[in-house]
Amino acid sequence: MRNIGILGAMAQEIDEVKALLTEKTTVKIANREFVVGKIGNTRCVVAFSKWGKVAATITATLLIQEFGITDLFFIGTAGALADGLKVGDIVVSKRLVQHDLDARPMLSRFELPLLNRVYVNSDPELTEVAGRAITNLINKGVESMVGEEAVKEFHLAPTLHFGDIASGDQFINSDEKRNEILSLLPDVQCVEMEGAAVAQVCLEFNVPFTVIRTISDTADHNARVDFGKFIVEVANAYSRAIITEIINLL
Ligand code: ADE
Repeated sequence: MRNIGILGAMAQEIDEVKALLTEKTTVKIANREFVVGKIGNTRCVVAFSKWGKVAATITATLLIQEFGITDLFFIGTAGALADGLKVGDIVVSKRLVQHDLDARPMLSRFELPLLNRVYVNSDPELTEVAGRAITNLINKGVESMVGEEAVKEFHLAPTLHFGDIASGDQFINSDEKRNEILSLLPDVQCVEMEGAAVAQVCLEFNVPFTVIRTISDTADHNARVDFGKFIVEVANAYSRAIITEIINLL
């Protein structure tokens, strides 16, 4: 039987997912709350990852070691790097890379020490299921996920994308930083602060995972303004709908 780990990058966002659980118990370890329960008939453990690569690494490792999860979904927001991605679009990971990892001259740029690779692939089955869940929701209409007011305010007309996601311990909010990442990693769709760290944990523990990121900003000078409002009005509701649909499909 599956035991699904669900990590969210924002506390409010994951609170909405925690609210879906029945037969709940809460376990506290290392200043983190893990809520164990069921969504439908599926066993799940839900936690706020906390921000940044180290914090998310700790949370993902605890999910695996203490709770024996069999699969991991990470859900959160990201800044868009690829042309054509707009606020409200959703990216599901194919590969994760740490854009701030650089052990040259010992290793090539972005190479994961002692793992002999730059990218960690997400699990094809979980990636496909996440994609199918999001497609179903988009086909039902974005209003099935969020209120009509938010749809108007953020001009939401979500499209689904699969591709590379880059993570680093920086909130990217300038043209200079976004262009630097893009010039070195031109296939990257979006940037965030946890996914590639969680991917590395899952690789080492051999746990299948995928990362789902809703675009909250364009990682330029507008990024901070867009971000807070978007979390409260859109990302929370998206997470709840997407996780519910994924669990239905598994
Ligand atoms: N998460 C959401 N937007 C982000 C950005 N611009 N940079 C890093 N992480 C993010």
